[in-house]
Amino acid sequence: MLSKIATRSFSSTAANAHKVAVLGAGGGIGQPLSLLLKLNHKVTDLALYDLRGAPGVAADVSHVPTNSTVKGYNPDQLAEALTGADVIVIPAGVPRKPGMTRDDLFNTNASIVRDLAKAAAENAPNAAVLVISNPVNSTVPIVAEVFKSKGVYNPKKLFGVTTLDVLRASRFVSEIAGTNPVNEKVTVVGGHSGITIVPLLSQTNHKDLDTETRDALIHRIQFGGDEVVQAKDGAGSATLSMAQAGARFAGAVLDGLSGEKDVIEPSFVDSPLFKSEGVEFFSSKVTLGVEGVKTVHPLGELSNHEEELVKTAKETLISNIKKGVEFVKQNP
Ligand code: NAD
Ligand code: LMR
Repeated sequence: MLSKIATRSFSSTAANAHKVAVLGAGGGIGQPLSLLLKLNHKVTDLALYDLRGAPGVAADVSHVPTNSTVKGYNPDQLAEALTGADVIVIPAGVPRKPGMTRDDLFNTNASIVRDLAKAAAENAPNAAVLVISNPVNSTVPIVAEVFKSKGVYNPKKLFGVTTLDVLRASRFVSEIAGTNPVNEKVTVVGGHSGITIVPLLSQTNHKDLDTETRDALIHRIQFGGDEVVQAKDGAGSATLSMAQAGARFAGAVLDGLSGEKDVIEPSFVDSPLFKSEGVEFFSSKVTLGVEGVKTVHPLGELSNHEEELVKTAKETLISNIKKGVEFVKQNP
């Protein structure tokens, strides 16, 4: 009996065997994210890449007894790290310090993401690309433009990871309501920075919060990243909660690729929802399937207040997205 159970849990069918590459695996997010991905049984080949330190992280993580191989790659081995990848997760780039906005990271991170996207387009054009590097509202369009320039853009395979906003919304609402955060599901839409983050509390059991409490809660969800940046006091931004968020979202993408049904997570994707208004990317609930994005869900019924928040978010998103697109046009 024991051997049967062991055989079942360690065997990987083709649908469940996936190569996942982490670009920026030596960093504050990359290290715990790599560990959490090692624990995912759908990951059979884990490729860890960074400018420095990836072989060490790989050696360390490789001792965790799950059924996957782990290999670390140095800067001259990026193509090898990417070849055959089904999923590429990108947490490479600099994090904020107190007083900075995510947009302040653009000048440094835009070129990092552009160059990694070029390598991904050349070596793993069919992989699902999950962008963590900030500012997500601009780095996702950067990846799209690079893939378009190489003729391999597939809008179903590009995701901005906004899951940390979803985690925070669950946690923060539970603190107010005195509930178990595990049972709190809050859809968060828009983008991933400040006022572009719009939690849809009217679609939860907490639609009757008084205005002051509601506004404070929304503000905390929108600016939760700042709490961590300030507490770390110059040593970076969220890494551990982000690793959990990244592993959860990568796990959902892998579940979808493996053919599981009804896998739904919010994500910042190439979205039809507001394209007619010039918003090319928008985060909303997405059903994940074997091809990547299966369905981009509409926002559903919104309160008047949420309508206003979405309107404001769209204005900022248009300029954040344009900034990413222009960057690649001017710096191909
Ligand atoms: P970090 O500085 O600890 O780690 C970044 C890693 O990226 C480093 O190991 C660095 O060597 C590596 N790197 C830099 N350039 C690279 C390149 N060209 N190729 C490969 N690796 C490269 O930073 P962190 O705390 O891990 O944060 C990383 C990024 O994630 C930041 O931009 C941060 O703002 C962002 N972030 C996003 C979210 C989100 O919700 N999407 C949450 C937290 C942090
Ligand atoms: C977060 O939301 O924690 C991240 O985007 C990092 C940051 O800069 O706040």
